[in-house]
Amino acid sequence: MRVGIGHDTHRLAEGRPLILGGVVIDHPRGLVGHSDADVVFHAVADALLGAAALGDIGEHYPDDDPHWEGLDGSRLLAEVVALIGGAGWRPLNLDVIVHAQEPKITPHKTAIRVNLARILGLEPTAVNVKAKTGERVGPIGRGEAISCEAVVLVVHG
Ligand code: CDP
Ligand code: ZN
Repeated sequence: MRVGIGHDTHRLAEGRPLILGGVVIDHPRGLVGHSDADVVFHAVADALLGAAALGDIGEHYPDDDPHWEGLDGSRLLAEVVALIGGAGWRPLNLDVIVHAQEPKITPHKTAIRVNLARILGLEPTAVNVKAKTGERVGPIGRGEAISCEAVVLVVHG
């Protein structure tokens, strides 16, 4: 078994949809990025790649490659699951922290868990989603960005 860690941050701006773990959340501002800027899927993808010692998503999907413009984070995550699967690794459990001053994530946790579980081939009981504000300080607390951290355990064979 191996463990992997992932992190991602995207800036918040008006006129963008807010998509976290594949869940479209009604909010006046959304995350800015070359792709759909789904910080949850990006952090989880990096955690999986880390566990399999396969680098990071920027190596596999360079953000200056126009092919990935608006790339659906769920597709990227599914491709990473397949990539580590090809190397013999499958996820066992996942834990995620979303750092966001707003909006409230708790009403969306179950939907995010279900999405993550489906893509990783896990039961929703093997996936946990936590949320923290930034206590109104720093870029998270001022509502300038949303971050996500993920830890995953994988097994070979
Ligand atoms: O209470 P504590 O300082 O540990 O955490 P907090 O950042 O004040 O957040 C309190 C609780 O609010 C968290 O445990 C989450 O369940 C929830 N929360 C949320 O639903 N959405 C957020 N964007 C941030 C926190
Ligand atoms: Zn990202």
